[in-house]
Amino acid sequence: MESKKYYITTPIYYPSSSFHVGHCYCTVVADAIARYKRLRGYDVFFMTGTDEHGQKIERKAKEASKTPKEYVDEIVADTKDLWQKLGISYDKYIRTTDEEHKECVKKIFKKLYDKGDIYLSSYEGKYCTPCESFFTESQLVDGKCPDCGRDVELVKEESYFFRLSKYQKRLEKLYDENPELLEPITRKNEMIENFFKKGLTDLCVSRTSVDWGIKVDFDPKHTVYVWIDALSNYISGLGYLSDNDELMKKYWPADLHLVGKEIFRFHAIIWPALLMALDLPIPKKIFGHGWLIVDGAKISKSRGNYKDPRVYINETSVDSLRYYLLSEVNFGQDGNFSEDLFIEKSNSDLANDLGNLVSRVTAMVEKYNDGIIIKSDVKESYDDNLIDAAETLTEKVELLMDQLKINEAIQKIWNVIRKANKYIDLSMPWILAKQENSERLNAVLYNLVETIRIIGIALRPFLVETPSEIFNQIGVEDDICTWDSSKKFGLLKENTKVKKGKNLFQRIEINKEKSKMEQDKKDNEVVQEVQNQYITIDDLSKVELKVGQVLEVSRVENSDKLYKLIVDIGNEKRTIVSGIVPYYKEEELLNKQIVVVTNLKPAKLRGIESQGMLLAAGDNDVVKLLVLDNNQGTLENGTNIH
Ligand code: MSP
Repeated sequence: MESKKYYITTPIYYPSSSFHVGHCYCTVVADAIARYKRLRGYDVFFMTGTDEHGQKIERKAKEASKTPKEYVDEIVADTKDLWQKLGISYDKYIRTTDEEHKECVKKIFKKLYDKGDIYLSSYEGKYCTPCESFFTESQLVDGKCPDCGRDVELVKEESYFFRLSKYQKRLEKLYDENPELLEPITRKNEMIENFFKKGLTDLCVSRTSVDWGIKVDFDPKHTVYVWIDALSNYISGLGYLSDNDELMKKYWPADLHLVGKEIFRFHAIIWPALLMALDLPIPKKIFGHGWLIVDGAKISKSRGNYKDPRVYINETSVDSLRYYLLSEVNFGQDGNFSEDLFIEKSNSDLANDLGNLVSRVTAMVEKYNDGIIIKSDVKESYDDNLIDAAETLTEKVELLMDQLKINEAIQKIWNVIRKANKYIDLSMPWILAKQENSERLNAVLYNLVETIRIIGIALRPFLVETPSEIFNQIGVEDDICTWDSSKKFGLLKENTKVKKGKNLFQRIEINKEKSKMEQDKKDNEVVQEVQNQYITIDDLSKVELKVGQVLEVSRVENSDKLYKLIVDIGNEKRTIVSGIVPYYKEEELLNKQIVVVTNLKPAKLRGIESQGMLLAAGDNDVVKLLVLDNNQGTLENGTNIH
C-alpha cells in the first residue's frame, strides 16, 4: 500500500539581508506542493531553514562588526517574517546553529570516521568562498569558479576527507536503477557529463582555517565543512541519532528535495553518497529547478535589479506574487521576472478573469435571487461543457502536480475560469431575468456558483488568501471545500446564501509614462509587422479555421453595424460580434454554415466578448460572407478547414 507520508524540503538558505524573488521561488513552489499533498490526505512534513556556518558568514559578520551569531539571528528573524508574509506553511524551520543539529552533525562525522569513510590527510587546492566549494584545477573555468565566475583562493591545510571515490560505482547503479531520482533529466545528464563521468575524487570535509562552524569533537581544531553540515539538516531535523528519532522513523526517506540548479550536484552526488555511508535509504526525488532572472539578468544588489519581495506583496497581494511565481515559470527551466508582466498578469488573470467572475456571479445572485441559491433542472445542451470541465478539474490538476508540472496545473484552472466567464455570456442571466424565466435563471446561477466552488478548491494549493475569500462570498461550509468534494458537481446546497464581498484583486494602474513607452513599443512592432509582407506555411498553420453554423442573430444595442451571433462550431457554441448589419438581414444569416477563425484572441466589442471571427470578402460597400457550398452534401459543424 502506498505510504501516506510526504517529506519535502527546500535548501537551507545562506542568511542574507537581500532575499529576492528568486529566493522566494523555490520556497513558494515547495509550499504549493506541500499544501497540495496535505489536501490529498498526506501526512506532510515540510522543512526549510538557514545554513548559518562557514567562512562567508564569518567574514560578513566581521564586516558588520557583529559576532556571527548576532549577525545570523537578525537575518533569520527577517527571513521568517518574509516566509510568513508569503504564506509559507513549513512544519519546521531548521537552523544549523540549533544545538540538536550540531550534535547530530558531530555524531555523523564520528560515525563515518569510525567506519573508515572519513580519514585525515591534507588539502591543497582551490576554494570558492561565496559558493563554499572546493575545485580541482581542471574544474575551474579560466582560473575562476565554474559556478559563480568569481576568484578562487588557494587553500593548503590539514583536512579530513570523505571517501567519495569509493561510492562512484554504487552511485552509478543508483542512477541507473532509479531513473526518476534525479530530475529534470536534462539537469541530470549535464551533471553526469560535467562532474560524475570525470571521476569522483575524495572530498575535503573539514577546515582548520575556519572557526565559525561545528567542531569535530575528537579533533576540535577542525571545523566540519559547511556542505556536510548543511546537507545533514535533512536528517538532523528529523532527530537522526538523537534520543527522539520518531520523525526520522516516520518521514525518512525524503520524498522530494527541491533545490536550485547550481546546488543540484551537491544533492545528486555528495548527499546520496553520505547516506550510503550512513546505511540510510536514499530520497525518492531530487529536483533541480531553474533560476528566476530579472529582464534577462541574474538578480543581485550590484546590478540594481533587486527588490525586497515584500514590496511586491504590499503593492499587490501575496496571492499576486505567488500566482506569478507559480504560473509564469516553466517548472525546471529558468524563468523571467518582469515587473510589467507581473502587473499585467495580476490585472488580466487575477483581477479580470478570476476576480470579475466571482464578482459578476455573486452580484447576479444577489440582484436576481436575494443571494439565495435555488436548484433547478432546466438544462441547455451547453451546460454539460462547463459541468464536465469543473467536475474533472482537480483530476487534471492532480495528474500534472504529481509530475511537478506546476504551471501547467494552474493553466487547467484558468481554462475553467475562462469557460465560466464564457458561460455567462452564453446563458445571459440578465435576459433570463428580464424574461422572468426563473427556472432557467436558477439553473444558470447554480452552475456558476458551483463551478466557482470547485475553482476555489483547485486554487487552494497555490493561493493562500483567495480561496477562503471565495468560499466566504459564495457561502459554502468547510465540508464542501475539501479536495475530494471538488470531484462532484452538485454538492452546493439549496438555500446557500451568497454575499458579494470586496473585489478579490485590485487592478493596478501602470503609471502613464510606462504605458506610453509601451504604446510606442507596440507601434514600432506594428510597423515591423507591416514591413514583413510574407508569411510562412508555419504562420498559416497557426490559424484555426472551422465550419460554424449560425444559431442565433441579434442586433447589438446602439450599434448600426454590429450583430451578435451565436455560432455552433461542433464541440461548443461561440459568441461572435460581427459588423455585417448593413449587408445581411437577420434571417439571411440564420442557419448558414460559414467559415470561423476559432483561435483568434477574444476581444470585447461594446462590452460583449467576441470569441472568434467570420471570414468575409469585399470592400466598403459590398461585403460577402464566405459560406459553404452545400450542394454536394453538408459538412458537420466544427469540421476543420485546411
Ligand atoms: N546554503 C546553500 C544550500 C544548502 S542546502 C543543504 C545555498 N543557499 S543559497 O541561499 O545560496 O541558495 C538557496 C536556494 O535559493 C538555492 O536553491 C538557489 O538555487 C536558490 N536561488 C537563489 N537565487 C535564485 C534565483 N534567482 N532563482 C531561483 N532560485 C534561486 O545554496
